Amino acid sequence: DKKPTPHTLRQRKGGEPIVAITAYDAVMAHYAGEAGVDIILVGDSVGNTVLGLPGTVPVTLDMMVHHSAAVVRAQPPALVVADVPFGEAHFDFRRVLMSCQRLMQEAGVDAVKIEGGRKLAPKIARLVEAGVPVWGHIGLMPQQVKQLGRYKKFGVNDAETAALVADAQALEAAGCFALLLEMVKPEAAKIVTEAVNIPVVGIGAGADCDGQILVFTDALGLTPGYVPGFVQQFADAGAVFRQGLSDYASAVRGRRYPASR
Ligand code: KIV
Ligand code: NA
Repeated sequence: DKKPTPHTLRQRKGGEPIVAITAYDAVMAHYAGEAGVDIILVGDSVGNTVLGLPGTVPVTLDMMVHHSAAVVRAQPPALVVADVPFGEAHFDFRRVLMSCQRLMQEAGVDAVKIEGGRKLAPKIARLVEAGVPVWGHIGLMPQQVKQLGRYKKFGVNDAETAALVADAQALEAAGCFALLLEMVKPEAAKIVTEAVNIPVVGIGAGADCDGQILVFTDALGLTPGYVPGFVQQFADAGAVFRQGLSDYASAVRGRRYPASR
């Protein structure tokens, strides 16, 4: 199978659903690549999923470069996308471009994802002009949690749905190759998906998007704490880890590993 590109993914609009998952290191990227996912997102969810941080706000560009480089080194046959972390996309264009340069040149990712609606569209258009493929991200934007006060659902009334459509169309016009729609009422997600000609990948946004993304640890049963209600757990890797580790501990303590002679 050929590695997808922003161009080939764009052509999947309304066709075979796009499969995306997050990964934060070479091991996760290896398995995601073997499974044939289309997009691997090095999400800023690295903060809460594997770094023990309270959310995505404390995640820095240095952390994103470090984890993105590890994912790229696994050479998965998927489009590797890195999140532009908290605050970065709101600096002047020169600094935003320099952040994208670090992610694309130093870490080697194929594209970036930026949280933000129509207000960021002009800057995104300039990034696209510079050759940076951008995946837009609207609906719930976890980097906004400090000012939102909580994680909530979007598209719950006509005004919110109209705002999402306006954001989606501005990001499409800016040249985004796809959009991510997070925590959006399914009816509104359908309207947004039908309002643009680029693929819309959903998470907690119902069944009518052009694809789905899940957080690796949530999808595989590795998240020790809270998992959002929309998540389907496709494996219980946590149970496999737990069993393997306790078998190892008892084998060592019982002098069954290593075997004598
Ligand atoms: O960082 C992340 O995991 C995300 C999700 C929406 C997939 O951005
Ligand atoms: Na993210």
